[in-house]
Formats: sequence, structure tokens, C-alpha cells
Amino acid sequence: MNLCILGIETSCDETAAAVYQASTGMRSNVLFSQIDLHRDFGGVVPEIASRSHLEKIHLIVQRALDQAGATLDDIDVIAVTSKPGLPGSLLIGLCFGKSMAWARNKKFIGVDHLEGHAFSAQIENTVPFPHLCLTASGGHTSLYLVHDFGKYEVLGETIDDAAGEAFDKIAKLLGLGYPGGPVIEKLATQVNFEDYFSYPRGPKNRLNFSFSGLKTAVFYDLVKKGICDLKTKLCNSKQENLQTIQQQVASSLLVCIADIFKAKLEQAFALHPHVKAVTFVGGVACNKFIRAQLKALCEQHGRSFFVPSPQYCTDNAGMIAFVGNYKAQQGKFDTFDLDIL
Ligand code: KG4
Ligand code: ZN
Repeated sequence: MNLCILGIETSCDETAAAVYQASTGMRSNVLFSQIDLHRDFGGVVPEIASRSHLEKIHLIVQRALDQAGATLDDIDVIAVTSKPGLPGSLLIGLCFGKSMAWARNKKFIGVDHLEGHAFSAQIENTVPFPHLCLTASGGHTSLYLVHDFGKYEVLGETIDDAAGEAFDKIAKLLGLGYPGGPVIEKLATQVNFEDYFSYPRGPKNRLNFSFSGLKTAVFYDLVKKGICDLKTKLCNSKQENLQTIQQQVASSLLVCIADIFKAKLEQAFALHPHVKAVTFVGGVACNKFIRAQLKALCEQHGRSFFVPSPQYCTDNAGMIAFVGNYKAQQGKFDTFDLDIL
């Protein structure tokens, strides 16, 4: 069926809308990022996030329709992120999407944000099944075995912090601001991705992830080096070799996290030798160094490797519209009593 889907995403700090056409693909993918509103706080402030969604949502949805050259009349289905995320943020998108669907008599679908990430590499590629999907974002780090559209099982997930969270928290200790991933990548590039400090790679014998021990190890190392205050956890900006240490920590951290991902994929290959490909998705998949490392590993193991373009790695509504489309094609609609989770 050549359905036209309006996707809406407001689970955290991006207000996003997209229009996806089953026959031709993505017609628009629009986003308002709140990063500047949260930067001074070193992380997302939930109430600021929901108020900003409330202010922007109608403008972003209108822009997505305009850029697609569509009106609400052209839309068959409204797909909205319903879980997981910040409750106040999720509620804005869900109420807005439900109200529009109710008022204009459209079909309505609630989408799991993580399912959005998990299938985001399919938007621009045809990825063979079964495949492994490594999702690494600010809130989640999981490894899935993906059997088909909407059919997947969790092989491992983080038992504490997410990978993106590790980048963000360690960047904060280094006085580098939010979000941490992009600036850590930039600093690591300046010193050619050397592994200066060999941080702990964590438990090796399971498919679950753990990044909290890594964060603590980096913290105590920074205290020892005089960069971080033990009590306040604030960065000593007067430290004379601060920039050199920032580069060395960033580089060692990046190499460490790439190694952790590679080790988990190798274990998963051994346990599931029939997988044909690997997808790497979520905000951390923007990282060119980690992409290159995982691509090389997949080549070595005879698996193809897919990453979405950056606009579909970080939070976006395109991935929500894409999942909305295959759910609609399978007749999986929701009723208006759907709540957030
Ligand atoms: O997927 P996303 O936009 O939001 C969540 O669902 O959490 O991911 C945001 C995360 C942040 O933690 C950010 O530091 C990380 O993705 N990130 C990166 C890079 N760009 C964004 N991490 C490593 N390298 C990057 N280039
Ligand atoms: Zn996300």
C-alpha cells in the first residue's frame, strides 16, 4: 500500500517531524534541536525540554508538511514516539499526534523510540536479515538480533550507563560541555586516536554492556592528574597542561569504547554465526572512528556493515515515520487510549 506517514518524535530534547511515503521514501525530515537550551546545565533539563516541545511542535510539523509539499489531507497515518523517554516530553508529541489524528480521522500508531533507532539503517539501505544491530545513544546501549521488520530480540544491553552517557559525563569532568561525543571525537582526532591510558574494557564474558566503571576509572585518573576536584567533580580550568590531557583522555576513551563494541560483536558472531550483516545506529554511530573500526571488523568476519547517515543516527522523526510505515503495512494500529510508558 502506498501510504503516506507523518512521524513525530519528542522523547528527549529534539522536536522532530517527518513525512515518509511508502513508494518513494523520505519526503522530509525536520528537527529543532534544544541543545543550546540545555548546554549550560551540562545535560537535558526535563521541564525546559517539555516547555520547548510545547512551543515548537506545531511549527515543526507544519515545516515537515511544507518541505514534503504535502498537506494533512495527504497523510494516511500519524506515527508518534510513545516510549521510552522523558514523560513530560513524550506527552507533548503523543497528545499533539493523537489530537490531529482524532480531529482529521487518521489512523494512529505509537512507536517505540528504540525500534526507531534499531531500523534506522534500513531507511537508506536494504539490510539483509538476520542481522545484528548495535544501538548506542545517550540513553541506551543495546545489541539486538534482528529477524525481520519489527521482529528482534535483545542479546545484551547496558546494566548501568549508556555509551553516549559515558561520553557526555566524561566530557563534563573534562570541562568540555554538552553533548560530549562530538567534542571527544574532535580532540581524539588531534592526537591520532592513540590509546594513552588503557582504560578498563569491562567484563568480557557476556553480551551486556557496562560503562559506569569506565567513567569512575577516568574520574579517579583525572583527580590524580589534578584536572578534576574529588568533591565537586569540577574541572580545574587553570591546570597548565589541560588541553593535552583533554586530548589524551578523549583519545583513550574513544579507543576503549570502540574496543568494547568490537569485543561484543565478535562474541555475538560466535554465538550467532548465521547473521549476515551488522547495523550501527543511534547518536554514537555519528562517530567516524568507531564506524571505521566496526566496518573493518565486519569485513574481517565476512559480514556487511551499515550505518545511517548522521541525520538518522541522532534522534529524528524519520525513523519513527519509517517504523510507522511497516507497522501500518502489517495493520498494527493503536487506539486513542494509548499512553506513554
Ligand atoms: O540518539 P541520540 O541523539 O539521543 C538519544 O536517544 O539518547 O544520541 C545522543 C548521544 C549523546 O550522548 C552524544 O554525546 C552522542 O550521541 N554522540 C556522539 C557523537 N555525536 C553524538 N558520540 C560519539 N561521537 C559522536 N560524534
Ligand atoms: Zn534516541
